[in-house]
Amino acid sequence: MIIAPSILNADNLHLGQQIQEAADSGIGRFHIDVMDGHFVPNLSYGPQLVSDFKKQFPDLTAEVHLMSNNLPDLLPAFVKAGSDLIEIHYEADYPARIDHWLDYLKEQGVSRGLVLSPDTDVKVLERYKGKVDQVLLMTVYPGFGGQKFMEEAPDRIKAARAILGDLPLEVDGGINAETAKIAKDAGADVFVAGSYIFGRESVAGQVAELTAVLEK
Ligand code: DX5
Ligand code: ZN
Repeated sequence: MIIAPSILNADNLHLGQQIQEAADSGIGRFHIDVMDGHFVPNLSYGPQLVSDFKKQFPDLTAEVHLMSNNLPDLLPAFVKAGSDLIEIHYEADYPARIDHWLDYLKEQGVSRGLVLSPDTDVKVLERYKGKVDQVLLMTVYPGFGGQKFMEEAPDRIKAARAILGDLPLEVDGGINAETAKIAKDAGADVFVAGSYIFGRESVAGQVAELTAVLEK
């Protein structure tokens, strides 16, 4: 079980401190939400954030969730910035070009993630399971932190798990101590949590609570 905190809801003026606090609590991977104000109606980070992250925390994994369809410009930029894993949306391009970009990431030595938004049929994963290192199922509509875990998510997780065998299956959106357990029981093994980790008093306390739930 892996917890990948999303820094989206962290205190951006104290980001380094908040990342350090989570890392001191055993977190090795961080989820960086990149929103372009077009594919999703919100704006967040660019490649500079990733290169600053890797400069300050070379041993931590930078997982980039790319919410954009400008793959020709942004994929090379996020590769160059030092991303360890880049997750692209199935909805961001034609299937043939998604294949092309997954091959590109492989050539560049970057781990490949494919993201499915809530309205995309999980059956498309049959086509991709041999071409990715991880699948991310959105459990909210992408764009904002702090939303509610969707009711239909557990069935989608189960269906995806049945297709994927032992490939890592990540969930993102509305994850807290209760929904993490539901997602885990349905077959997820990587958990993004944003407002649950960074939106409360103690980052260490929240990490400990989520870790305890997932270890049960
Ligand atoms: C939504 C993002 C998520 C989000 C998670 O578009 O992909 O990573 O920030 O935030 P919470 O955990 O608050 O739902
Ligand atoms: Zn995300």
